[in-house]
Amino acid sequence: MASMKVLFSLLVTIAVAEAAIHRIHVTRKHAILASINRMFAANGDVVPELTRDGELFYSGNITVGTPPQTFVTDFDTGSSDLWIMDDTCEMDDCKGAPVFHKKNSTTYKASNVQKVIGYAGGNLAIGLQSYETITLGNISLESQSFILINQSLGNVFTKSVFGLSSPDVAQSGTPPFYTAVEQKAVDKPILTVFLEKSADNTFGGEVTLGDYDTKNCGPTYSTTKSNTTDWFVNINGVSINGKQFSNKTCTGVVDTGTTYLILPFDVTELIKTINETVEITRWPGYGWSMECADADKLPQITINIDGYDHIIEGSQLSVPIGDIKGQCAFGLVGADYVGVSILGDPFIRDRCVSQNIQTKEVSFALRK
Ligand SMILES: *[C@@H]1O[C@H](CO)[C@@H](O)[C@H](O)[C@H]1NC(C)=O
Ligand SMILES: *[C@@H]1O[C@H](CO)[C@@H](O)[C@H](O)[C@H]1NC(C)=O
Ligand SMILES: *[C@@H]1O[C@H](CO)[C@@H](O)[C@H](O)[C@H]1NC(C)=O
Ligand SMILES: *[C@@H]1O[C@H](CO)[C@@H](O)[C@H](O)[C@H]1NC(C)=O
Ligand SMILES: *[C@@H]1O[C@H](CO)[C@@H](O)[C@H](O)[C@H]1NC(C)=O
Ligand SMILES: *[C@@H]1O[C@H](CO)[C@@H](O)[C@H](O)[C@H]1NC(C)=O
Ligand SMILES: *[C@@H]1O[C@H](CO)[C@@H](O)[C@H](O)[C@H]1NC(C)=O
Repeated sequence: MASMKVLFSLLVTIAVAEAAIHRIHVTRKHAILASINRMFAANGDVVPELTRDGELFYSGNITVGTPPQTFVTDFDTGSSDLWIMDDTCEMDDCKGAPVFHKKNSTTYKASNVQKVIGYAGGNLAIGLQSYETITLGNISLESQSFILINQSLGNVFTKSVFGLSSPDVAQSGTPPFYTAVEQKAVDKPILTVFLEKSADNTFGGEVTLGDYDTKNCGPTYSTTKSNTTDWFVNINGVSINGKQFSNKTCTGVVDTGTTYLILPFDVTELIKTINETVEITRWPGYGWSMECADADKLPQITINIDGYDHIIEGSQLSVPIGDIKGQCAFGLVGADYVGVSILGDPFIRDRCVSQNIQTKEVSFALRK
């Protein structure tokens, strides 16, 4: 499903862990999105819409093939496919990007089935379904399906995506973490995401495959269930200082691949309320902007998930994008056509979120 992808890049890596717990470290950086993405339907029709731009994403290293070729990939709980770029891709997005040299891998298997991946942010990636040995940290997955991209549109900063969601929204077969559980590469069917708060360091967080993250996170404070789609939860309300802006129940998705908090209703009133404390101005293409220096004055936003009030610190909504001096994006936008609330990075940075792919429990823990 959708992930409003973002701009930026980041990276990094690494491995590690205790018994069959594997951690991938991610780092992040900022970049400026030069163009405005448009939204594509899965069949390739352009749905005029969505401007969105500068963002920030979280990524880490994986290797593909034998001998291993390294890729920096964007770990995304809002989608389920892994894709990397093929060395035959001649489009602008692929120039200078890490590309896969399939002829140099002894474990590569192709199919002739073409797959199209479209994201809510408008970027599109098209290529052949393929199978390879993939390693993350010291986990190795055999014959993992993935898409080898030879056509790419709008993937200006993201040159690979690693989907962490479930098979029902996968285009290319069993998602990598499901393979890890099937192949017993991990002990437990649990995946945890932890994203670092501060934008001024290079450590971006960790994705823990096979357990909760006891290194970065405290005990679970609330648990709910996703339905068939991993990371999807029920939202009962959105409020600021007790004032409700929506009390309709809607579906929300915890999405590491989205830089903002995106709410599926008209946020005019909400913006007015924020504007009483911190001046917010329209920023075409980015939603709204504000002075970065006002970050700590932003009020907390409360998101009620299945009866539990989760707090997002206001400062999480001040998103530094690019190198615009002193000005930050306000990391919340309304987009009713998306239909679901996207609990992107501002929500995730304030807590650790785990998905159990078997019981479907989604649990929330405080950061340590
Ligand atoms: C991740 O991959 C990048 C690009 O290949 C490389 O420069 C970096 O050293 C790698 N990081 C780690 C920790 O392996
Ligand atoms: C690799 O996995 C083993 C157990 O599966 C674990 O003991 C070891 O610490 C891990 N090493 C790294 C670098 O992840
Ligand atoms: C592929 O492998 C060959 C032989 O091992 C090597 O010479 C060549 O540089 C490799 N090509 C790439 C693009 O890695
Ligand atoms: C991508 O690969 C498909 C399947 O091999 C091929 O039909 C198509 O022409 C290729 N497109 C580009 C732009 O290379
Ligand atoms: C289950 O998740 C889907 C998204 O895959 C969503 O459209 C649907 O509304 C959800 N159903 C319930 C009952 O939450
Ligand atoms: C919340 O619900 C009440 C009563 O059901 C309604 O009067 C009110 O307008 C709703 N508020 C919002 C922001 O939807
Ligand atoms: C915020 O308030 C200022 C006046 O203080 C006003 O000029 C501006 O248009 C308001 N912004 C929004 C988005 O309502």
